[in-house]
Amino acid sequence: MSVTYFKRYRMHFDLRRELPDEPEIADQYQYLSWRPDLIPRHADAKFNSFKYELDANVFPCLGQREGCEGLMREIASRTGFVPEATWLVVSRQASSGKTTNCGTVQGINDQGLIGSIQNLGIVPDHRGHGLARGLLIRALQGFRNIGMDTASLEVTAQNDDAIRLYQRFGFRNIRTVYKSIEIIGVPG
Ligand SMILES: CC(C)(COP(=O)(O)OP(=O)(O)OC[C@H]1O[C@@H](n2cnc3c(N)ncnc32)[C@H](O)[C@@H]1OP(=O)(O)O)[C@@H](O)C(=O)NCCC(=O)NCCS
Repeated sequence: MSVTYFKRYRMHFDLRRELPDEPEIADQYQYLSWRPDLIPRHADAKFNSFKYELDANVFPCLGQREGCEGLMREIASRTGFVPEATWLVVSRQASSGKTTNCGTVQGINDQGLIGSIQNLGIVPDHRGHGLARGLLIRALQGFRNIGMDTASLEVTAQNDDAIRLYQRFGFRNIRTVYKSIEIIGVPG
């Protein structure tokens, strides 16, 4: 067995600041606030957002459909789960009425007045349309509405797209941390 370390940045956003402007998004998209029956749809969005990404190595459950569903159930059952900061974004096709799960974000509170953003992800076909910004704004508003003063997240240091998004949004790097992953060798 060997151990690999992933460098990650912990970033904070001061919720007493003004939030960035809401991006305009296409009519096909709709943000859905938290409901327990949406767990499978959050899990589907999470799996399709993370399955080919670096973070599926850092958190192996993100690379498996059942892992994403289990993670969603576990997050939603925590005492610190913040439904107000948990959002799904879907796309509706007007012609067929078909709905696609495009992105997800969850919020938890395990450190007093600090709200922690979890697993923000947008599926590849729907990136670059402002959906991550829209989800982040809703999550931050949710934390703020229940009286929190700081939002926190962790991002893998090689995840340039996400880091750029967070920095432009107004998150500041406060600490570098290392996440260890045990890699179990396959017997020869
Ligand atoms: C990181 C991630 C969440 C970004 O999602 P996204 O929906 O593409 O992000 P947005 O569209 O909101 O913003 C991304 C860029 O599109 C631009 N954009 C915003 N609105 C737009 C619009 N209407 N049309 C086109 N582009 C737009 C933004 O300016 C932004 O550009 P910038 O990075 O130069 O600031 C996505 O790449 C992802 O899911 N990655 C894999 C999972 C992951 O790593 N998550 C982060 C875990 S910490």
